[in-house]
Amino acid sequence: TGQVVETDVLVVGSGPSGAAASLMLSELGIDNIMITKYRWTANTPRAHITNQRAMEVFRDLGIEDQVLVDATAHDLVGDTVFCTSIAGEEIGRIRTWGTRPDREADYQLASPCLTVDIPQTYLEPILVRNATIRGTQARFSTEYLSHTQDDDGVTVEVLDRLTAHRYRIRAKYLIGADGARSQIAADIDLPFEGAMDIAGSMNITFTADIAALVDHRPSVLYWVIQPGSNVGGIGTGLVRMVRPWNEWLIVWGYDINQPPPVLDDAAATQIVRDLLGMPDLEPEITGYSLWGVNEMYATNLQRGRVFCVGDAVHRHPPSNGLGSNTSIQDSYNLVWKIAAVLSGQAGQGLLDTYTAERAPVAKRIVTRANRSAREFADIFTALDIEGLTDPAEMAAAMNRRKENTPEGAAMRAALVDAMETKNYEFNAHGVELGQFYQSDAVISDGTSPPPSLDPDLYHVMSTSPGAHLPHAWVGDQNTKLATMDLAPYRRWTLITGVAGEQWEEAAAKVSATMGIPLEAIVIGPGREVTDLYFDWARLREVGEAGALLIRPDKHVAWRSQDLPTDPEAALRAAMTQLLCRT
Ligand code: FDA
Repeated sequence: TGQVVETDVLVVGSGPSGAAASLMLSELGIDNIMITKYRWTANTPRAHITNQRAMEVFRDLGIEDQVLVDATAHDLVGDTVFCTSIAGEEIGRIRTWGTRPDREADYQLASPCLTVDIPQTYLEPILVRNATIRGTQARFSTEYLSHTQDDDGVTVEVLDRLTAHRYRIRAKYLIGADGARSQIAADIDLPFEGAMDIAGSMNITFTADIAALVDHRPSVLYWVIQPGSNVGGIGTGLVRMVRPWNEWLIVWGYDINQPPPVLDDAAATQIVRDLLGMPDLEPEITGYSLWGVNEMYATNLQRGRVFCVGDAVHRHPPSNGLGSNTSIQDSYNLVWKIAAVLSGQAGQGLLDTYTAERAPVAKRIVTRANRSAREFADIFTALDIEGLTDPAEMAAAMNRRKENTPEGAAMRAALVDAMETKNYEFNAHGVELGQFYQSDAVISDGTSPPPSLDPDLYHVMSTSPGAHLPHAWVGDQNTKLATMDLAPYRRWTLITGVAGEQWEEAAAKVSATMGIPLEAIVIGPGREVTDLYFDWARLREVGEAGALLIRPDKHVAWRSQDLPTDPEAALRAAMTQLLCRT
């Protein structure tokens, strides 16, 4: 038929990146449709570790409370265990996701939110529900088939899978959030580095109450070293908590160069019994599937009016828990730019900054996640079990680490080092938070953030343009706000101090004359927001009369060390440049 449905933005996919994009578009009042191929959201738990930046996005969008209701709390995610089976010998633990007291301080100082665990099966419905309530037209069982674009928009051919009816959706922009096998990324011919399916993994979900074995060492991840655990997959066998402590997901590798293993209830039950070390357990197997480990990222994320976000542009193993977190932040970066162009606040050039800012992040996280998976080999080497396949031989080798011999001492020392290395997977705060943008949507003042002791492990807060707004608690005797709360997604925010009050008038004039949502906030005693712990004064890196211009996505776009003679002209020049309004 000739029927064409019109919208401003079409989002393909209801996973973390697509559902988040729709929610953000609706939050900003942009007309949008979200289509997804299946009848509902994710049908397996998949991604789960939800880091501080993703939680901040939820806080900004007013859904943090809803996420926390369905999440496993921060204090239950930490005691990551390495063992020969859940009921068997424990090799050691590592405190993860910022739960070790000295690291917890870093995490608490850097954000108002802490890492929690919420499986995709719980998160996606929250995102979809809120997007739909706020205006998104959601269409399930609707498949993207193809698109064409011209100077004014994109025409997308879609299929209603219930009725076999094909129709077209005409949008000004198309967001491809269609996952690791993205058709849209292929259709716009995005360039990729790396390879897909470099190792094989299987997921098995099951229910069994094993609280007695785990609730004294609460964690999301229990790593199991058994014969075959270093073949393919994500480094070693994994028993992952889905719900404490009766719903679980096992990840077990297989050799991708062999025919895929036959998975049935009996085979799945055997794997569950082996990894739990409970030969008589009768688990209820609730599902199983095979998936490939990928190491691939796009170096360009867009073409014309079409943008790809999420796994469509970065494909990697779950190590470091970066998948859905990064996907959500891609959308957070892109959506305000599309909204600014659609509403006439910004020139088209702003859209090109999406690739400039997010492609380096894609490369970084794919590289880190794959390296983390490979670094499990250090543990096998330390335990002297590399290449062993016989359980008795493995046990004998591992037992040598208990002996009072030079070899035993060397093994113990190697194991300490191998565990230390795992901090790069489980406490990689710098990878999680340290995105520094360099693009036309940032006006550099020639600085970069102060060097980190180790950029993967430690995040250094800074207001150097391109960095994320540092976190501090501010407010007054009745309210406690995070600095991010001062700069909501729907507007630009200029933050200054008592001596910089002239910026307020400058911001009001620039906002009115340029038609940009922009507000100034003065932090200081007797003002609307006070520096509750005197932290902000130490973090702002500009004089009290200086100013920080914060983008909707909380990155510092521009800063002024002091009050210039004409603050309005300075701010106008910055905004004009940042919004690509020539
Ligand atoms: P995602 O893949 O979630 O969503 C894609 C969406 O596009 C879906 O809604 C789909 O219906 C839709 N779609 C695709 N093609 C379409 C078409 N032609 N038309 C319409 N809609 C279409 N990560 C992690 O951190 N820990 C983990 O344990 C795991 N485990 C895991 C297991 C399995 C089996 C998979 C597939 C993935 C993982 N991941 C993971 C990765 C994690 O799930 C992933 O990073 C995020 O889901 C990415 O979110 P996206 O929204 O980008 O894609």
